[in-house]
Amino acid sequence: MKKILITGGAGFIGSHVVRRFVNRYPDYQIFNLDALTYAGNLENIKDIEDHPNYHFVKGDIVDEAFINELFLNYNFDGILHLAAESHVDRSIEDPLAFVKTNVIGTMNLLNAAKNQWKDDFTNKRFYHISTDEVYGSLGAEGLFTETTPYDPNSPYSASKASSDHFVRAYGETYGLPYVLTNCSNNYGSYHFPEKLIPLFINNIINNKPLPVYGDGNYTRDWLFVEDHAAAIDLVFHEGKNHETYNIGGFNEWKNIDLVKLLCQIMDEKLGRTSGTSQELITYVKDRPGHDLRYAIDASKINKELGWKPSVTFEEGLEKTINWYLENEEWLQNVTSGSYKDYYQKQYS
Ligand code: NAD
Ligand code: TYD
Repeated sequence: MKKILITGGAGFIGSHVVRRFVNRYPDYQIFNLDALTYAGNLENIKDIEDHPNYHFVKGDIVDEAFINELFLNYNFDGILHLAAESHVDRSIEDPLAFVKTNVIGTMNLLNAAKNQWKDDFTNKRFYHISTDEVYGSLGAEGLFTETTPYDPNSPYSASKASSDHFVRAYGETYGLPYVLTNCSNNYGSYHFPEKLIPLFINNIINNKPLPVYGDGNYTRDWLFVEDHAAAIDLVFHEGKNHETYNIGGFNEWKNIDLVKLLCQIMDEKLGRTSGTSQELITYVKDRPGHDLRYAIDASKINKELGWKPSVTFEEGLEKTINWYLENEEWLQNVTSGSYKDYYQKQYS
């Protein structure tokens, strides 16, 4: 039986990965390690918490002694590492928190895996989940490929770039069997309402301003989170060691166009007169160092592993909006802060 450690499984993408692995692989023992920071919410995975192959471990990847002991106790066969500080705006306010979790935390996991597996790397795998933001910003043309040089601009992307380099270095220096993916912006259910799409859905529901940074002419390449989870599953099982794969939806949107589409769909869903939500758009001071454009060339993962997104953006956005409207309690618990009590109620 395989013992798999998934870090950050109470977060947005991690919860989708944990759910997928718990449901699809009953022979695996899945250990979800999460510090439950503001972004960690056990309500995200309450549907699978009673499965016999699921185990939750509360802990901080920055705590070296704790990580070493965890690996000694469980001798994991595979690691999917998603735990991170993930929000660019927060990284501008507190860069050191990003260095601690994203760089030191990743180092602790790499060291623990290396020390645990040193005599035998057979059927072992360290999978590092990263972002396309490590490549920096594109101009009007071109796409990020796996060979695009790293050129991070925000403290978030610099910390993720640093962790990516350490993962590669452990592969080269110690032979650690790793795979690495760099993915574009995700959207979908259980997304913390500080990122563009869930924040704006929440604000539209509550008739609050929609703060568009700068002129809104920034471009992101959006991918439905369940398609990302499917890609992660595929790379974990079929990717080649020491390889990087870019994951993206071939789905570029200027922020302002996306926001207008969101407003239009929300007006329809909420039975409001067309144009009502657009009136909430407020142009605000730009984010410092704001990357102009991200866009992924996902042809390698498509050609080599056969992955492609399963939904169009219109379908994914519709599913996402429906989920938020049907799960207003989740949204209320997150915005009121009461989601923090869930661990106490279930695990203490
Ligand atoms: P998230 O912020 O929603 O979740 C992060 C999770 O990690 C939370 O559950 C949090 O409690 C946990 N965590 C944070 N610090 C920790 C620590 N020190 N120890 C243990 N757990 C800790 O993030 P996300 O959006 O789900 O992103 C997951 C991963 O995917 C990250 O590595 C991120 O860089 C990467 N990624 C995200 C996107 C995106 O669009 N969200 C795109 C590409 C890559
Ligand atoms: P975000 O969801 O924070 O993801 P990232 O910065 O990792 O791409 O932001 C997506 C885009 O939306 C980005 O160009 C910044 C912009 N944005 C706004 O205009 N207003 C907001 O309130 C937020 C959170 C983001």
